[in-house]
Amino acid sequence: MSQLTSSLQWKSLQNLYNGKMKSAHMRDLFKNENRYCEFNVRLDNLGITFDYSKNIIDGQTMQMLFSLAQAGDVKNWTKKIFSGEKINWTEKRAVLHSALRNMSGNPVFVDGKDVMPEINEVLNKVKSFTDDLRKGKWLGKTGKKIQSVVNIGIGGSDLGPRMVCEALKYYADGPEVYFVSNIDGADIYEVLKKLDPETSLFIVASKTFTTLETITNANTARKWLVEKLGEDAVKNHFVALSTNKEKVAQFGIDTKNMFEFWDFVGGRYSVWSAIGLPIACAVGFDKFKEFLSGAYEMDQHFINTPFEKNIPVIMALLGIWYNNFFNAQSYAVLPYSQYLHRFTAFLQQSDMESNGKTIDRDSNKVDYETGQILWGEPGTNGQHSFYQLIHQGTKLIPADFIGIVNPPEKIGDHHNKLMSNYFAQTEALAFGLTKEQVIETLKKGKYSQQDMEMLTPHKVFDGNKPTNSILLDELTPKTLGALIALYEHKIFVQGIIWRVNSFDQWGVELGKVLANVILPELEEKTQNSHDCSTSSLIKQYLKLKKN
Ligand code: F6P
Repeated sequence: MSQLTSSLQWKSLQNLYNGKMKSAHMRDLFKNENRYCEFNVRLDNLGITFDYSKNIIDGQTMQMLFSLAQAGDVKNWTKKIFSGEKINWTEKRAVLHSALRNMSGNPVFVDGKDVMPEINEVLNKVKSFTDDLRKGKWLGKTGKKIQSVVNIGIGGSDLGPRMVCEALKYYADGPEVYFVSNIDGADIYEVLKKLDPETSLFIVASKTFTTLETITNANTARKWLVEKLGEDAVKNHFVALSTNKEKVAQFGIDTKNMFEFWDFVGGRYSVWSAIGLPIACAVGFDKFKEFLSGAYEMDQHFINTPFEKNIPVIMALLGIWYNNFFNAQSYAVLPYSQYLHRFTAFLQQSDMESNGKTIDRDSNKVDYETGQILWGEPGTNGQHSFYQLIHQGTKLIPADFIGIVNPPEKIGDHHNKLMSNYFAQTEALAFGLTKEQVIETLKKGKYSQQDMEMLTPHKVFDGNKPTNSILLDELTPKTLGALIALYEHKIFVQGIIWRVNSFDQWGVELGKVLANVILPELEEKTQNSHDCSTSSLIKQYLKLKKN
């Protein structure tokens, strides 16, 4: 048995689950009228209300979960991450995305060196570049103002800025920002056809500057630009965001047009770094700074708040409760905001690339479940698609409902209609509809006795489906920054308790290596041996390919 599953705290939780909680129902738990106040946190400074009363928990459950966090040394690990200890042990790296939004004025050390001066220097560079670009001082080769910015990157060099640009679209008053990530030529083809080379700027965003997808797309964009404007246009129309100066120079981008970040910033945590440049292009540097400050305030909440009122800790523990004791395989993140329509896609990388691990801190295979499958779509679209399964399917799918009290846009009577669904869904999920309630309703209709008997079980909702409600007073750069940081810390706490390294990603390597072996085969330069399925599929592809 592993250290975790043999711990007293784990066993106590298992006993609690096997005993009263496995069969507990929210209909009964809510007989406690104080429940909303007991299981609710309000952050006035950030305008965030977090209600977790609609979970299959009671006070004792929470106390035991807090003990688990205590035993997992979460406090101590929090100190380690924020102070620049190399907690990413397989890559021997510090994990300091928090330093990128450190507004305290205090130094942060890595290997005895304060990293804040470099971070602030890059921030200043982002400010002056984006100010110039937005004011029309940074011009294309032919002297025209830049109207379109194309971010070329993938994974963490795409999902974060893409999601934030969508989320803050209401505030966008800069050039149009496009994103190209897929190596499928269709992605860049469809963007290039909208662009005028004289007014376009390409941001090549890659931490390593070796990622096949990004370099292929960047080369295609470069060729397109050079064909139209000549080789010397590259310096006006290309900038790079990277940790790898050498590769940037090799690609032909002047390193003075490179915005640096560092290996203590993981790809999926890099939206706060130079990788956020497209955001500052779209909404301006001041709003980008507000975005950072929201995350900073969430960091302070996470560091300074006792577990009992600490939102990321509570969310992490509830996730563990369902993942490890109720055997929930997945969880859904459901934003009731069209602006947040990429939020779940962004979180998929943050969460699943971080905690989709099997090997623990002692290099042993875990004997418990780790990272959950995260998925979702904005409400109410999801309601007309997959909610059926959440309500009446055989699987338990805990969900986070994210809503906004005062949306940035005010148009017609949409918002109350949207929010009535937001509230109705968590109510329906928690309390369902009993057989008696169904029969009572059916009796009011013109059903035969036979039809009533047949229909009743189909119309029953068991309820007891757990949800968290996260309600933002407003969707602003600041609250968005806080929301992202909230999930980052949730992921961190879970990784600590599960004893995995949340900051490496070895699992993405094998596919990349094998693709490099197969590519020359598709270009008919080599033949390698594979299993019969892969070999036959490659043969079939080559046979059917037209050119
Ligand atoms: O998918 C693996 C990964 O390494 C991610 O962690 C990262 O965000 C992405 O590739 C892109 O990497 P880079 O920024 O180095 O191009």
